[in-house]
Amino acid sequence: MTKVAIFASGSGTNFENIAQRVQSGELSQIEITALYTDHDDAGCIALAHRLNIPVHINKVKDFDSKTAYETHLLELLREEQVEWIILAGYMRLIGETLLEAYEGQILNIHPSLLPKYKGKDAIGQALDHHETQTGTTVHYVDSGMDTGSIIAQKSCDIFENDTHDDVEARVKSLEYELYPAVISEIIQ
Ligand code: GAR
Repeated sequence: MTKVAIFASGSGTNFENIAQRVQSGELSQIEITALYTDHDDAGCIALAHRLNIPVHINKVKDFDSKTAYETHLLELLREEQVEWIILAGYMRLIGETLLEAYEGQILNIHPSLLPKYKGKDAIGQALDHHETQTGTTVHYVDSGMDTGSIIAQKSCDIFENDTHDDVEARVKSLEYELYPAVISEIIQ
């Protein structure tokens, strides 16, 4: 079984979806060693407790530098023999320390049809540009913001009277199918 760590900063519904599929046996080739989060009030923490998954909470501001923060994460990842890092709403750029240690072994999901609308609030950006379609992308992580090579995408419509919440719910329902499918294919 391949050991993976999931990194999240927010509500953690993608983390929950992946973890439930692991626990139901649907994603049987991976084991989630822990949830790694950079916020002590993130919703993903309660989800991890409910799923009996260990949680590491580390805030960058408690370290002298981002390198020191990532060096600490790297120690934890090595202790847990983690082979892949799965970013699920981790709203921070991965720095050199983790990139060098996990080159080609970090996946991210982003709520747009990349290369369009990188960065924060991708759904708001698509709405501001009056797009009639958006979607989600799973990609490898490099040093840029949502720039690594694309593995898979799924698209959906944006209708005229859609609110931000409407589009977000539609995109997340795509993410809940796409991310486990890619993980299952890529991580053996
Ligand atoms: C997801 O929609 C994910 O694509 C996005 O954050 C959301 C997290 O939701 N990630 C990014 O925007 C990365 N640039 P969740 O916490 O409910 O899984």
